[in-house]
Amino acid sequence: MSLLITGGTGYIGSHTVVELLKQNQSVIIVDNLVNSSIKVLDRIQTITGKTVTFIKADICDAKAMDAIFNEHKISAVVHFAGLKAVGESNEIPLTYYHNNVSGTITLLQIMAKHHVKSLVFSSSATVYGEDNQSPLDESMPTSATNPYGMTKLMIENILFDLAKSDPQWSIVCLRYFNPIGAHESGLIGENPHGIPNNLLPYVAQVAIGRLEQLQVFGDDYDTHDGTGVRDYIHVVDLALGHVQALAKLPQLTGCHAINLGTGNGTSVLEIVEKFEEISGKHIAYTIVSRRAGDLASVYAKADLAKSLLNWQAQRDLHTMIADTWRWQSQNPKGY
Ligand code: NAD
Ligand code: WQD
Repeated sequence: MSLLITGGTGYIGSHTVVELLKQNQSVIIVDNLVNSSIKVLDRIQTITGKTVTFIKADICDAKAMDAIFNEHKISAVVHFAGLKAVGESNEIPLTYYHNNVSGTITLLQIMAKHHVKSLVFSSSATVYGEDNQSPLDESMPTSATNPYGMTKLMIENILFDLAKSDPQWSIVCLRYFNPIGAHESGLIGENPHGIPNNLLPYVAQVAIGRLEQLQVFGDDYDTHDGTGVRDYIHVVDLALGHVQALAKLPQLTGCHAINLGTGNGTSVLEIVEKFEEISGKHIAYTIVSRRAGDLASVYAKADLAKSLLNWQAQRDLHTMIADTWRWQSQNPKGY
């Protein structure tokens, strides 16, 4: 039996594949490479000494997905495939709803047809919307402020309805906070196309000299230094959360939403300072006005993952930034 990993050549997917291979799991990746590189496969092989089956296909393509389930014995699916840029989702919402929501429905229909009813889904802390106070816990009301966030919320709701309709489903929606870092080998990491939207890849590209200076979006938030506070989590810890979720799935019938965060908040200026200290590079920055849609402070209550999955983040901020820097300095232009 194999695990099917949609979006497995992407940032979080590739790190999860490494951890699954390390546990001797048989893994099949399906990815259309819209936001990832085929070179990831060689890197995964170098790290693990194992090969992984790769199928280039779109999750929206029902025929191709059906063929995968016909040809392989799949026990469970980890579903990372999706578009994830918040700003872009405002510009091309239909593309986001089609790719993320319709693509997931297609995947679920094919899974049901083949009686594969175990799923781990990549959700996001974005489903907490803007009305809740951190620490955010899973019982809080959900909402969305942009089409990307709405796709995550819609998919979660679809998954809750599906599990209610058929008790054979076991589903875990993992709500990630802010994944950063890279594998300790420096061989795989986050590889954004164009100018990064997220803080860490931006800072890393300033440090390596690809970008001139960071724009800090606001220093007048109600936080200890006025800049935005987030719950950064090492991508390898996140990957291990998926390994644990898969292990616990048989006992977790129904649909469960679970935070994957550290429970700690770090400000933008603290990230800049730590990055300078670890890389030995100067990070030039300027304070600009707030970015629309940003919140002051977002961090997790991380207790449910501990009790349900026996999982807790282990890697500290120093490791997260040191690993980000190793990846960036060894791969200045990405893959
Ligand atoms: P990523 O873009 O690196 O990986 C997503 C992968 O899915 C890419 O390899 C892409 O090529 C593939 N893909 C997209 N649409 C596809 C389709 N229709 N068919 C097949 N493959 C497709 O992103 P990531 O950071 O690894 O994120 C993985 C998942 O986690 C996404 O669903 C994302 O929304 C979610 N998530 C990410 C973050 C984050 O900050 N990185 C936070 C919360 C949730
Ligand atoms: C972090 C902090 C910014 C860039 C996003 C998505 C969310 C989730 C994770 C997928 C904030 C500040 C950033 C910059 C800055 N993704 N910042 N200058 O916004 O918390 O979350 O990624 O589900 O849905 O919204 O992450 O890394 O963009 O920002 O000052 O150039 O850094 O204001 O305080 P965010 P981020």
